[in-house]
Amino acid sequence: MKNVVITGADRNIGLELVRQFLQRGWKVFAGRYLMDLPLLEELQREYPDTLTLVPLDVSKDEAVRAAAEAVGKEADHVDMLIHNAAGFGGQSGDGEIDFTTFAAPYNINALGAMRMVHYFLPLMQTGMKRLCFVSSEAGVVSVAHRTEISSYCMSKTALNMALRLMFNQLQPLGYTFRLYHPGWVRSAKIEHSTDAVPTFKDADGNLIGKFWPWETAAAAVPQFIEDREWEDRLVLIDNEGAAWPF
Ligand SMILES: NC(=O)c1ccc[n+]([C@@H]2O[C@H](COP(=O)([O-])OP(=O)(O)OC[C@H]3O[C@@H](n4cnc5c(N)ncnc54)[C@H](OP(=O)(O)O)[C@@H]3O)[C@@H](O)[C@H]2O)c1
Repeated sequence: MKNVVITGADRNIGLELVRQFLQRGWKVFAGRYLMDLPLLEELQREYPDTLTLVPLDVSKDEAVRAAAEAVGKEADHVDMLIHNAAGFGGQSGDGEIDFTTFAAPYNINALGAMRMVHYFLPLMQTGMKRLCFVSSEAGVVSVAHRTEISSYCMSKTALNMALRLMFNQLQPLGYTFRLYHPGWVRSAKIEHSTDAVPTFKDADGNLIGKFWPWETAAAAVPQFIEDREWEDRLVLIDNEGAAWPF
């Protein structure tokens, strides 16, 4: 049985990735960050033997090291890593900028990816050796259209560069990479079991966003699992199969 570690797995795209890998018979180690949210526990009742919940804050060295140690006690190797967790932060809106909020997204989105690879790589010397990252068109410099200066966008650009450098280092050692843009997804900002889930409708009743989390997860899973003939190239691919510059 193959196994996968998924970060930011408590809800939305991360949770749907967990569910769909379980449905395909994989063993899943789900990174748990929102301890108040019971959705992963509910899923674990359905998959008691194949879903393990691992406390995982990707912004902290010690937490990632401890998570790798916990996974290593249950599995002799890890086939696939999926860095899906993301943080949002500073935005320049009306001229006021709070610079103290700008650093956090880098630490989660870009450095978090590096931390995950650093601490989990010793467990990935055998097996599938696949490293997957959920990035975004928001980090693509050449098509940037937003006008506010967003720390989230900048952090995804930093993630893309970090991946390019890790790819240069690790692809010759047999590691394969997936870089995924999930599209514009209706992700609910639920943090507690009592939070209401938004309807994602505008004032006219039209749906906001283009895809549901399970739809983009369904598009991602085959991309993550299937081999490619061109593993020597790193390409950002979206949920509809289109390649983006990055
Ligand atoms: N939704 C979209 O339209 C869209 C578009 C392009 C790319 N993406 C990418 O898709 C991925 C999943 O996003 P999503 O839409 O499912 O939104 P999401 O629900 O916000 O997913 C990200 C999860 O990561 C968690 N997280 C934050 N800091 C963390 C940390 N230090 N350690 C571990 N987990 C942490 C978040 O918790 P908190 O929020 O409570 O901090 C959240 O549960 C992200 O990488 C995002 O950038 C989404």
